[in-house]
Amino acid sequence: MTETALDWDGVWVGAHLATMVPGEDPYGSLGDAAIAVRGERIAWIGTAAQGARLAASAGVRVHDAAGAWILPGLIDCHTHLVHGGDRVAEFEQRLRGASYEEIARAGGGIQSTVRATREASTQELATSAARRARRLMAEGVTTIEVKSGYGLDRRTERRMLEVARGLERELPVSVRTTYLGLHALPAEYRDDRDAYVAAACGPWLEEIAAAGLADGVDAFCESIAFTIEETRRLFDAARRLGLPVRIHAGQLHDIGAAELAAQYGAQSADHLEYLGEQGARRLAAAGTVAVLLPCAYFTLRQRDPPPVAALRAAGVPIAVATDCNPGTSPCTSLLLALAMSCTLFGLTPEEALRGATVNAARALGVAADRGTLEVGKRADFALYRLGRPAELCYALGANPCIGVVHRGRPRD
Ligand code: NIG
Ligand code: FE
Repeated sequence: MTETALDWDGVWVGAHLATMVPGEDPYGSLGDAAIAVRGERIAWIGTAAQGARLAASAGVRVHDAAGAWILPGLIDCHTHLVHGGDRVAEFEQRLRGASYEEIARAGGGIQSTVRATREASTQELATSAARRARRLMAEGVTTIEVKSGYGLDRRTERRMLEVARGLERELPVSVRTTYLGLHALPAEYRDDRDAYVAAACGPWLEEIAAAGLADGVDAFCESIAFTIEETRRLFDAARRLGLPVRIHAGQLHDIGAAELAAQYGAQSADHLEYLGEQGARRLAAAGTVAVLLPCAYFTLRQRDPPPVAALRAAGVPIAVATDCNPGTSPCTSLLLALAMSCTLFGLTPEEALRGATVNAARALGVAADRGTLEVGKRADFALYRLGRPAELCYALGANPCIGVVHRGRPRD
């Protein structure tokens, strides 16, 4: 095959690539490499010398990566980025001894963010979400999943998802939206759970699906939120509409939510501090990704980490995300989440980085297109000044990201 650079739009040379393609080399590493883009796609990967030679002969724009490491654009596959208000007062209450569950049962917690989100204007929601998105993006994040779930009425759930979609138009980032209609029972339905579940899983979801506002659905399946049977109603409705499902499972108790996720072939089951061996085996058999959320675990000062050894033994793909939300994870640093996944949960840095690239892509159903550096995939990548990739999980509060390419275009 004769190689030609004639149709490249640009090439990055003098880089080390961590392609994250599974194989023998840790991180799918390629030293002294080059990566070329055409339009939105990766056109070619080879050695730095070849890249420079081909580019020179074809007059292609050459970017000198100056020894940087290039990784696939990071993917934050679980966030509640769109919300009104904050929960600083609850943070203080918890430090005085109140538990997350007590605060939730007393009408605080998610309910207080629901009130603030309903009251916020669409512009206010968009501005604060964009501020959080920019912080994630500054670390090399190129795809963000964003959930609804703080509206809990037809109008505000829809508004949240519209704001999430709007982020993609305003900023050089890709967004995947998730309808989290079953997050908490709103106060006005306190005496009629059934009516709420019927509305949230019926007309509200149908309207959102018809408007193309959701790429998937999610439920908080937990003792303080929704039961297995209620979650099943949402998942059945999603199935009829052809929407993939994901679930908040085993954050506080094991009520069988992981098994339910597996039964529905969920894209992901998230949190999983409380998960038995059977749950892990079922997730593996269903190909469901376990999304670990160490910043929520940290903020709630939980004591039992997710059963990482059982997940590994069963062969469950593991992802890591920020869970950015005002209650349990006021975190806009995916790199910090990676560091915590290593220190608190015992992931290796390579597992953590796979969790924010290849496995996060899988959790969002975009693995054919994103999550690794491979010819034909989307040219989403980030450049970091590092000695080696593990540093991304090691440094706390540093941001070694020195450049980002999204859909083939360098961000300013
Ligand atoms: O992922 N667990 C449920 N949902 C969020 C917390 C929401 C909140 O407290 O506002 C989570 O941790
Ligand atoms: Fe969450």
